[in-house]
Amino acid sequence: MLQSAQADGASRNGNVVLRIQGAAKTYASQSGSCTALLPVTSEVRAGEFISLVGPSGCGKTTLLKMCAGLITPSAGTITFGETGKSIAPGEFGFVFQAPALLPWRTVLSNVALPADILGLDKAAATERARALLATVRLAGAEEKYPRELSGGMQQRAAIARALLHDPDILFMDEPFGALDAMTREDLNMELQRISQKQHKTVLFVTHDIEEAVLLSDRVFALSAGPGRLVETIDITLSRPRSLSVKASPEFTRAVARIRALLNREETLP
Ligand SMILES: Nc1ncnc2c1ncn2[C@@H]1O[C@H](COP(=O)(O)OP(=O)(O)OP(=O)(O)O)[C@@H](O)[C@H]1O
Ligand SMILES: [Mg+2]
Repeated sequence: MLQSAQADGASRNGNVVLRIQGAAKTYASQSGSCTALLPVTSEVRAGEFISLVGPSGCGKTTLLKMCAGLITPSAGTITFGETGKSIAPGEFGFVFQAPALLPWRTVLSNVALPADILGLDKAAATERARALLATVRLAGAEEKYPRELSGGMQQRAAIARALLHDPDILFMDEPFGALDAMTREDLNMELQRISQKQHKTVLFVTHDIEEAVLLSDRVFALSAGPGRLVETIDITLSRPRSLSVKASPEFTRAVARIRALLNREETLP
């Protein structure tokens, strides 16, 4: 059911949207250089949901930001589709660990923000922002300010904002890390619904192995010190998945396998 099995559905048949070829990162600083990530080679196909899991400091954010073109690899390349270039800002949305909403703007105007940055039509963007707020179940919160929302609501607004310009790819860096378990499960289901319905390709960083298995078509397991892609695990559980899938033997097996992989790597010299 797991590793090396062919995932079901169309996702694995999509075109390659990101081609990662020997991409590595060494940060240079005054105190010396830090190898964050050893060369990674893989690809991401249209419509796939991929999670990056691994211990703190193993290079998950580094890999995600390199895929989004926010930082450049020290070696290797990451190219978008058939262009041979890195991804353009209009092609992706990025959800950070903290919602990072602007406190002086209303929720509606926060969600419409990418229109200002990308120079899109304002009226159309506002219209779309309203529709997206309804999609993330925040209808009625348009004129509120971020401080008036709960943490989970703010994170939903941040997801709506990342979808504003209808990007094909969503990069999400531990978007639910600060939330309580119940809110997190609600948002997991919400994210599955949106990504499936809108055919998004998602790269999702999490510390939580169960969250990764619940949501993903494939899980990239990274080891620490310096980061290395240890294995890619296929998750072939059928979709849509409900929270009850967590009790299934396939789910439990996948979680145990990834946990063993990461623990084994942690104990290696
Ligand atoms: N701008 C930077 N300058 C120097 N070193 C950095 C920089 N950003 C990250 N690093 C180092 O690179 C390594 C990987 O960092 P990264 O943020 O990618 O890890 P991570 O897996 O996302 O960790 P976490 O789960 O804690 O968010 C770490 O050792 C970190 O200290
Ligand atoms: Mg990180």
